[in-house]
Amino acid sequence: MTNDTQNPSAPDAGQRARRASSFGAEAGAYAAHRPDYPREAVSWLLEPVAARPALKVLDLAAGTGKLTAVLLGMGLGSDAVEAVEPDAGMLDQLRRDLPGVPARTGTAESIPAPDASFDAVLVGQAFHWFDPERALPEIARVLRPGGVLGALWNADDDRVEWVAGLRDLLVSMPSLSRSGDRSKPLMGHEAFGATEERRFTHGQPRTVESLTATVATHSHLLVMDDAERTATLEKVRAYLGARPETAEGEFTLPLVTITARGVRTEG
Ligand SMILES: C[S@@+](CC[C@H](N)C(=O)[O-])C[C@H]1O[C@@H](n2cnc3c(N)ncnc32)[C@H](O)[C@@H]1O
Repeated sequence: MTNDTQNPSAPDAGQRARRASSFGAEAGAYAAHRPDYPREAVSWLLEPVAARPALKVLDLAAGTGKLTAVLLGMGLGSDAVEAVEPDAGMLDQLRRDLPGVPARTGTAESIPAPDASFDAVLVGQAFHWFDPERALPEIARVLRPGGVLGALWNADDDRVEWVAGLRDLLVSMPSLSRSGDRSKPLMGHEAFGATEERRFTHGQPRTVESLTATVATHSHLLVMDDAERTATLEKVRAYLGARPETAEGEFTLPLVTITARGVRTEG
């Protein structure tokens, strides 16, 4: 299935900018239907700094706070986690759902935080929207030496046949036809050591309606005109309703969480 990690750098810069800022209009649906991240993936990202006392973690491009909530669930206090997000709709949802967490308006290219103020900067499903030439030095600025930059993406596991079929259906739609190559996590900057990557498989319960609602939160769909969006979602619903694996009741959506981390060099 296509998702926001695919073809993020489409040639049309205006379309890309519209997609990057499309999420807030459907912040409630995003919070309700987008998948969560497995704790083991987040633990792996934090491993280089896990032993530090009074760990401080920034959830950058925090959206509605899905990754922030995982961090809190892992035992970090709301004094250990901060959130930065540019979109007012997403930020409002985060503040409603996680009222104790400091949450500020900002971007990866201009982070509202002092130098060397975090041990880790984590980015969920958003690194591909950044301008890496401006964001990487800015992330390096707010990280303490030896701190970690970690990025993660949930992707539907299209090694499973019915998931591959759904992906093929979506890329056949006119607005999605150029999608196909997944963005590579890139941390190529002198401030960071070699990028390490790891993948974690997991799954989340869905029904025909809830997976259709999940697809509807992807940026490709959010920027479609109403007619194409309705037609696309009808096709998704019909496809899922016709597949034996998904037609009846609850099923598991198989997911792969793709993670990448790089450690801030000293000095
Ligand atoms: C797919 S959502 C991911 C939200 C959240 N991190 C999560 O895991 O659910 C992408 C988020 O990136 C934000 N975003 C887009 N461009 C950004 C930028 N240049 N700097 C920071 N955030 C950005 C969007 O506003 C949106 O909330």
